[in-house]
Amino acid sequence: MFAHKTRMMKSQINDIDQETENHDTFLNDVINGLTQSEKTLPSKYFYNAVGDVLFQKIMHCDDYYLTRSEMDIFKNKTEQLAEPFLQNSEPFELIELGAGDGSKTKHLLQYLTDKNAPFTYSPIDISEHILSVLEDRLSQDIPELKIKPENGDYFDALKRICDRSNQRKVVLFLGSNIGNMVYEDAIAFCSKLSSMLSPKDLVLIGFDLKKDPQTILQAYNDSTGYTAQFNLNLLQRMNDELHADFELNQFVHYPTYNPQTGACKSFLISQQDQTVQLGDEEISFKKYEPIFMEVSRKFSLADIRNLAEKTGFEPISHNYDSKQWFTDVLWQVK
Ligand code: AVI
Repeated sequence: MFAHKTRMMKSQINDIDQETENHDTFLNDVINGLTQSEKTLPSKYFYNAVGDVLFQKIMHCDDYYLTRSEMDIFKNKTEQLAEPFLQNSEPFELIELGAGDGSKTKHLLQYLTDKNAPFTYSPIDISEHILSVLEDRLSQDIPELKIKPENGDYFDALKRICDRSNQRKVVLFLGSNIGNMVYEDAIAFCSKLSSMLSPKDLVLIGFDLKKDPQTILQAYNDSTGYTAQFNLNLLQRMNDELHADFELNQFVHYPTYNPQTGACKSFLISQQDQTVQLGDEEISFKKYEPIFMEVSRKFSLADIRNLAEKTGFEPISHNYDSKQWFTDVLWQVK
């Protein structure tokens, strides 16, 4: 009884330690971003409970075409996507970086299950909550599916899977999440991925393609205003969690798209000279000064080929949606 209580207290203390560490990292990261000569905030902090709901709304709104385009591929090109995974009935680990709600992957999982493919599905996500919702949903929809969720950072979790299994690996990284990395980070990310995998392992990556600049800009400036709320929510989160005093109506969402570089960037523009308290820091904003919030990079086929070449992969196939706006590209580790 006493040992049980002590264990409980220890785990509560661990939770509190973890929360304090998260709080301190969040505070340091945002102060670091806002004290640079060109102010910036890390977009990974968009995803708190409110941010998750707003992102769901973005994905369902008419102007944000990315989710529909990739869904078109997963629904209508399932066989083309899945067939290369089925090599000589050899068992494999199907690993997804960033589990999401599984709505796209479900088509692939159903196809592979119908084919009696010998695989285990391991979705990786930083949110334990997302993983348990996904596991419940998939166990109901596809009862035969072998699912082993892995909670944590992508590369820590991938390492655990590589340590426990020497089966062939097929890694999914969907949704053009790779577009949220600046070029050097995308290079570092893909290089690390190929170095952790073995020759002939596969990765399937979703890329949003360069297209009519107006279509792209509209996706990040949707008429429902969800993307603006999504960006402003990070200021609200800093008010709630870090006791900052941002006045949200003194910042305006401003997306841009550069068709030469393919960088779609979101900014929040200060509407007046103002000062914000953040921890022990006072951050001053000039009227019309921007905070760079997020990049959502768009790719040409040459950009994608280049990325594969520089990071230890060989391109195997491309699958497109019916409008050719999005591609899921299969790469093999060299
Ligand atoms: C998650 N990621 C691929 C989205 C994107 O399109 O860059 C995030 C997002 N930001 C604004 N709208 C959607």
